Amino acid sequence: MSFRDRMSYGDYLGLDAVLSAQHPRSAAHDEMLFIIQHQTSELWMKLALHEMDAARGLIAAGDLQPAFKMLARVARIMEQLNSAWDVLRTMTPSDYTDFRAALGESSGFQSWQYRMIEFVAGNRNMAMIGPHEHRPDLAGALRSEAARPSLYDVVLGRLAVAGFDVAPRSRLDCPHQPEAAVIAAWERVYRDPRTHWELYELAEKLMDFEDYFRRWRFNHVTTVERVIGFKRGTGGTGGVSYLRRMLEAVLFPDLWQVRTQL
Ligand code: HEM
Repeated sequence: MSFRDRMSYGDYLGLDAVLSAQHPRSAAHDEMLFIIQHQTSELWMKLALHEMDAARGLIAAGDLQPAFKMLARVARIMEQLNSAWDVLRTMTPSDYTDFRAALGESSGFQSWQYRMIEFVAGNRNMAMIGPHEHRPDLAGALRSEAARPSLYDVVLGRLAVAGFDVAPRSRLDCPHQPEAAVIAAWERVYRDPRTHWELYELAEKLMDFEDYFRRWRFNHVTTVERVIGFKRGTGGTGGVSYLRRMLEAVLFPDLWQVRTQL
């Protein structure tokens, strides 16, 4: 049973590093919950990015079936993050106020991985790189990402390969806007799924992802209002007012708009 010369569970998982990364800055009991909730969210985001990037490569290469499996996993990860709010909701305003001052100006607003998920999907608001400028490595990674075709750009590429009249975007470093030609292409796919089954399935995988992502944003803003009301955020925004505006962000506008036409 000795692991002196063999790799143990803790060695393989790097548990010393993971389990020694919680550093509460106050004596408040709930700060540990707050830290672990964010850290576990970041770990799930890391996996989501791993899957999204691989799915993008496979879609670009026309290998859709394994990409579907990865996108299904990403949707499940979002669902997992949605369930996690139930744990955080056990923290009351009184509990949070005990340690909020200890956070300083740190905020999920500065979550680099969250922004990267948006950028990979295609929601590229370059102004959101601002909070990362103090870390040239992270700001640089977001800029490089914004210069690459997004997940949705490679999906548009599949529409073009299938013969639809869809051109690549001239600028990649901005959010996707609805386009008549793309909506018309999706309309044909949705009106005749049997002929375009793979594209139809691909579109629905993206819809699943965005659906769960919207629920995450909604759970977040509801939890935030429950815990801090309408106070300003530690990251400097108006707080709930900002997060409510973010509920309107749309990752794949063509796919939402086509529904009205069907
Ligand atoms: C009681 C718990 C929480 C409160 C009170 C809270 C509060 C806020 C507020 C007020 C903002 C707006 C930016 C600002 O001014 O700070 C924000 C943004 C954000 N928070 Fe939270 N948050 C909480 C939990 C979480 C958790 C668990 C995560 C998971 C990683 C998270 C991730 C984010 C992200 C990614 C943003 C940026 C959203 C965007 O720009 O669209 N937050 N949060």
